[in-house]
Amino acid sequence: MKVYHSSNKDDWETPPALFDQLNKEFKFTLDVAARADNAKCKKFFSPADDALKKTWRGNCFLNPPFSLAAAFVKKAHEEALAGRATTVALLAARTDTKWFHQWVYRSGAEIRFLKGRVKFVGARSAAPFPSMIVIWRKRGRLQRSGRRLARLGVLALAWAWAWTLPYPAARFKPF
Ligand SMILES: C[S@@+](CC[C@H](N)C(=O)[O-])C[C@H]1O[C@@H](n2cnc3c(N)ncnc32)[C@H](O)[C@@H]1O
Repeated sequence: MKVYHSSNKDDWETPPALFDQLNKEFKFTLDVAARADNAKCKKFFSPADDALKKTWRGNCFLNPPFSLAAAFVKKAHEEALAGRATTVALLAARTDTKWFHQWVYRSGAEIRFLKGRVKFVGARSAAPFPSMIVIWRKRGRLQRSGRRLARLGVLALAWAWAWTLPYPAARFKPF
């Protein structure tokens, strides 16, 4: 049987209609995975730049190379957490993968599952896998310090609780 669409190709190009729809909403300033001939924004990172080693800023669009999907997804999560970039990604909806659970599902990113299959530019048929749009919104300063404060709060509560324990558990009191 001839396979007309393989998911493991590194440069499946985003359909313009899908990009335009997202661009209307997010007004992208940087395509973080591209080449000059397929870049969706004036500013882009190419394999020569290596986006994984760059700082991402602004509103970023991401359709990652298949072979580096996990690394790009992790990077998008980290840049949002650091308060540097909002990243919107077109991804295969591989909900059984470690990267999905760790960097998408548990990261609190917004997930929009796409109805139907995406037909990538140049493909003879629609993709053999479902797709999703994932949005990691950049955290504001307050959100970031809020998380730190929440962690300190949990530690303080645990410490206060330790003082209520009877001996011998009480010997674990820090002081
Ligand atoms: C799936 S294509 C997406 C192309 C285009 N951005 C789009 O949405 O149609 C992924 C692109 O990422 C590029 N790429 C691969 N490794 C990269 C890296 N380390 N840094 C930046 N771009 C990379 C590939 O050359 C390829 O053009």
